[in-house]
Amino acid sequence: MTVPGQTIQADPAARAERAGARRSLPLLVLGAGADPASERGVDCPGELPPASDPGLVARAHAARSALGDRAFVLGHHYQRDEVIQFADVTGDSFKLAREAAARPGAEYIVFCGVHFMAESADILTSDAQQVVLPDLAAGCSMADMATYNQVEQCWEALEDLGIADEVIPVTYMNSSADIKAFTGRHGGTVCTSSNARKAVSWALGRGSKVLFLPDQHLGRNTAVLELGMSLDDCVVWDPHAPGDTGGLTAEQLNDATMILWRGHCSVHGRFSLDCVTDVRARIPGVTVIVHPECQHEVVLAADCIGSTEKIISTIEQAPPGSAWAVGTELNLVQRLAASNPDKTVAFLDKTVCYCSTMNRIDLPHLVWALESLADGRPVNQITVDDDTAAQARAALDQMLALG
Ligand code: 13P
Ligand code: SF4
Repeated sequence: MTVPGQTIQADPAARAERAGARRSLPLLVLGAGADPASERGVDCPGELPPASDPGLVARAHAARSALGDRAFVLGHHYQRDEVIQFADVTGDSFKLAREAAARPGAEYIVFCGVHFMAESADILTSDAQQVVLPDLAAGCSMADMATYNQVEQCWEALEDLGIADEVIPVTYMNSSADIKAFTGRHGGTVCTSSNARKAVSWALGRGSKVLFLPDQHLGRNTAVLELGMSLDDCVVWDPHAPGDTGGLTAEQLNDATMILWRGHCSVHGRFSLDCVTDVRARIPGVTVIVHPECQHEVVLAADCIGSTEKIISTIEQAPPGSAWAVGTELNLVQRLAASNPDKTVAFLDKTVCYCSTMNRIDLPHLVWALESLADGRPVNQITVDDDTAAQARAALDQMLALG
C-alpha cells in the first residue's frame, strides 16, 4: 500500500532490468559527432564556405534557382534575417508542419529551424522526399529535457500506481521523435503553442489526467489560463528527482489533473517579472505580449499571450502609434520592429537573447546545404526510423486533425 505523503518505490530489481533494456544516451563531446537519438546533434561534416565570403548571398540565390521546384525551403520565425530571406514559407512550428505535409512534389525539404521540426517534417512527408537540416547542431535544449528513458520510466511509475490508464499524453512539438512515438503509442496527441488548448481539452475528453511533455510552462499556462484549472490541479514531474516518482507522492499524482514535465525553454524562461515591471516604467502605455513558454508569473503580468503566429498577427493588426513589448525570440522581435515602423516594438528583456540553436543555421550552412543538393549530394539528411515514424505520425496526425 502507498502511504499518502511518501514517494512510491517500485520493485528496484524489476526497474533496473527494464532500465537496462532501454537505450542509453551517451555523453557527447562537442564536435564528436551527431546523436540521432537526441536533439543534441553537434557535428556538421563538410567544407563550409567562409562567413566572410562576399558572394554568399549570390551563391545561395544561384543554388536555390538551380534547385527550382525540386526543393522547398521552410523557415521558422526565429531564424536569422540572412536565412529567412530564402524561405519559401515562414511560420511557427504548427504552420511549418502543415506546409511540409502539403508539399508532396518537393524532392527536398530544406528545414531552416531546429532538429525536432525537421524530424516532424520527415515523419509527415513521403519516403521519396528528403528533409535536410543545414546544421545538425541546431537542436533544442527544451526537447533534450525529456529523454526516451526518462519518459518510459515515468510511464512505468504511473502504471505501478494504477493510474496510467487514466492518463493521456500531450506532447509539445518541441520534443524528439521518440517522445512523439511514445505519445502515439499511448493514444495521445502532439500540440504546438497554437493549439495546446484544443489538445489538452481533447485529451481530457478521453482520460481524467494529462501527462504534458516537455514544457511545464506551456502546460501550466494552458491549463490555468485557457482551461480554467487551478494551480493545485497541476503537479511537476521532475525526472532528476531521487526515487522513481518524479519527486511526487502517490497522493499528489492521484489528485492531479495535469502532470507537467519539468522542462522549459532556455530563451522564453529568461523573461522575468522584473522585465515586465521595467518595460512598463520605460515605455508608458506599452502592451506586453508574451509567448506561452514564458513562466506563469510573467504571463500573468503580461497583457496578452500568444504563439509566434499570434504575436505577429496581433502586432500587425494593432493601431499605428501603439507600443508593444514582446516576450519571444529576438530575431522575430527585431523583424517585427522593422516591419511595423508606425508602432513601437521593443524586446521585453533589456538583455539580448537569441535562441542559440536556431541561430546555428547561418548563411554558410544554408549555401553549403543548397549547393550540395544542387550537385546531387544531399547533406545532413534527417531520417526517423519506420517504427518510430509510424507511432509518432499517429500523434502528429491527431494534432493536425484538431486543427
Ligand atoms: P512555436 O513556433 O510553436 O510558437 O514555438 C516556439 C518555439 O520555441 C519553437 O522552438
Ligand atoms: Fe528550443 Fe526555446 Fe530555442 Fe524554441 S526557442 S528551439 S523551445 S530553446
